[in-house]
Amino acid sequence: MTVPVELIRHLVMAKRVTVLTGAGVSAESGVPTFRDAQTGLWAKFKPEELATPGAFRRNPRLVWEWYDWRRQRVASVQPNPAHRALAEMQNLFPHFTLITQNVDGLHQRAGSRNVIELHGNITRTKCFDEGTVVTSWPDTGDVPPKCPNCGGLLRPDVVWFEEPMPEAEIQMAIEASTHCDVFLSIGTSTVVQPAASLPFEAMRSGATVGEINPQPTPFTPEANFVLAGNAGLILPELLDRLR
Ligand code: OAD
Repeated sequence: MTVPVELIRHLVMAKRVTVLTGAGVSAESGVPTFRDAQTGLWAKFKPEELATPGAFRRNPRLVWEWYDWRRQRVASVQPNPAHRALAEMQNLFPHFTLITQNVDGLHQRAGSRNVIELHGNITRTKCFDEGTVVTSWPDTGDVPPKCPNCGGLLRPDVVWFEEPMPEAEIQMAIEASTHCDVFLSIGTSTVVQPAASLPFEAMRSGATVGEINPQPTPFTPEANFVLAGNAGLILPELLDRLR
């Protein structure tokens, strides 16, 4: 896939670049996406049994163990060329904002700074009752472990269905999306709100918007540039052309 020269031109002139990523960016690291047929997590598991506050109340052990399995998976994989290219790109523009729906921390492990995490981070743990982040707890063998402050149950610090997004992150993401010259939407099915509205907001605000995804999404018909392919191949090429 050749990156369109017009997109490179827009990027070379851009002062403000904003990127939104989704699970597709980590797919080539071996982290399953959510909605890809056969391989996506939601093709195998029911979100309402694993990723809602009600699910945790009903079966905290199941939910904790499922996230523990995902946590181990994430710890065992490495950032891929897409993560690394995005980490390099932050040094090429006066203002570069990376917004992610991913909870795997792979952007940060590749060197990206100030990542706006809309859905939290699977490597962090918080108290289900108090909402405070907890970094250590006594090993009592309880599953899930207990909060060292209040004795409540601990849970992953991610956003579940039926839960609000973190307000500060959403505001920063909207600001960066509506005040950029170029916006890139990469590896997201663009169906989960409010993240899904960001490329549309960017476009309405006058940005040039590109999408990198092997499959069409609801945003594809709107995008100025559609790069239909894998992020791990396209982003390194785009970076090479920018340097
Ligand atoms: P999805 O699983 O919905 O979509 C992944 C997208 O990545 C699809 O459009 C794929 O076509 C694309 N894709 C797959 N491989 C790719 C590759 N190598 N390069 C580029 N794109 C590729 O994941 P998200 O859009 O991130 O939320 O899902 C959004 C949210 O839904 C997640 O954050 C999660 C989920 O429920 C919560 O858990 C709150």
